[in-house]
Amino acid sequence: MGRPARTDPGIFTYASSLPPCATPITLGEGSTPLVSLDRLADHLGVRALYGKLESCNPTGSYKDRVAAMSMSLAVSRRQRGWVATSSGNAGVALATYGRRAGLPGFLCVVPSIPREKLLPILALGVPVVRVEGLGTGARGRSERGMFEVVQAAADGLDLFLAVTAHRFNHDGMRGADTIAYELVDAGLDDGVAYVPTGGGGLVSAICRGVRQRGARLRVVAAQPSGCAPIARFLAGEIDCPEIEACTSRVSALQLPAPPDGELAAQQVAATAGWGTHAGDDAIQDAQRLLANLEGVFVEPAAATSLAGAIADLAAGRLDPATTATLVLTGGGGKDLASVEPLVEAPPTVAVDRLADEISTWVGSTDVRAGQR
Ligand SMILES: Cc1ncc(COP(=O)(O)O)c(C=O)c1O
Repeated sequence: MGRPARTDPGIFTYASSLPPCATPITLGEGSTPLVSLDRLADHLGVRALYGKLESCNPTGSYKDRVAAMSMSLAVSRRQRGWVATSSGNAGVALATYGRRAGLPGFLCVVPSIPREKLLPILALGVPVVRVEGLGTGARGRSERGMFEVVQAAADGLDLFLAVTAHRFNHDGMRGADTIAYELVDAGLDDGVAYVPTGGGGLVSAICRGVRQRGARLRVVAAQPSGCAPIARFLAGEIDCPEIEACTSRVSALQLPAPPDGELAAQQVAATAGWGTHAGDDAIQDAQRLLANLEGVFVEPAAATSLAGAIADLAAGRLDPATTATLVLTGGGGKDLASVEPLVEAPPTVAVDRLADEISTWVGSTDVRAGQR
């Protein structure tokens, strides 16, 4: 018999930089593509633009890195199960890696969770409840109340608290540091990285990874204008990274009282980065631009990185000669209802009309226009 095949270590390629765990739980997450976005760079008038395609993780978002780390820790600590809150992506990732680990778990999600995020959780058979008062219109009070209840349940019932925020799950969040390790290993040790930001955990992890590697990459926290407590705090507009209520519709970035708000602001400042924000309409435009110019279809939360870079170019905060990288945190297939009102349904035609339709299209389009 031959030697057993070597399986993909996923984020545990970086095991020596991560919290120790006896049994790594992995599905080959991480090592996501870094692609150059040349047509988009030309369009925006910037020298070099890259996209880190976190949508290529097993469940379609960067949360797989946190879920892999969290479940590995839960198993190593012999906990009886796990509990978490989620706007959707973390829920799918934790449900998937929880099953992979053979550990039971319980999820509390926002009522407006997109069906593309809810259905996989249900298919994985993980119990889930929608919690009132979160998502669009969310107030800091409901958000804090939910975290308190979930934390108390985890403490009292010997469950791993798998919430994807440093305040609750510091060691699990270290899985997301690997994004920074990969960027630096790919040669991006300076320039600027735009990171979509909600609760602040992701941007904190990326900053920590950048600094741990001694790189000079500056990190920018990009938020929707309707829920931008961290960006506004960094800009000195408010006294603490918290706002009364969220008015943005961007799923995953609707946290008016971000659990890692202060940490994120400190970490971003330590990389000489800054905060930025763009309105929901500008985020939709950015989503379409990425899809149409580069074939990179991401969810609105992920497109917030591009919308932030565009806002910064207009405001003179981003020098067009700087190399910019967009961390594209989740795939476009994760929130299709957000796209539906923006596109036209295709016409239905008879087969004998088809040839006419195609030649009319060729006549009305410069089919070579996109070629370089
Ligand atoms: C696709 C996507 N991008 C960005 C974020 C923001 O991460 P954080 O809440 O850690 O700031 C999330 C969080 O759910 C997300 O799902």
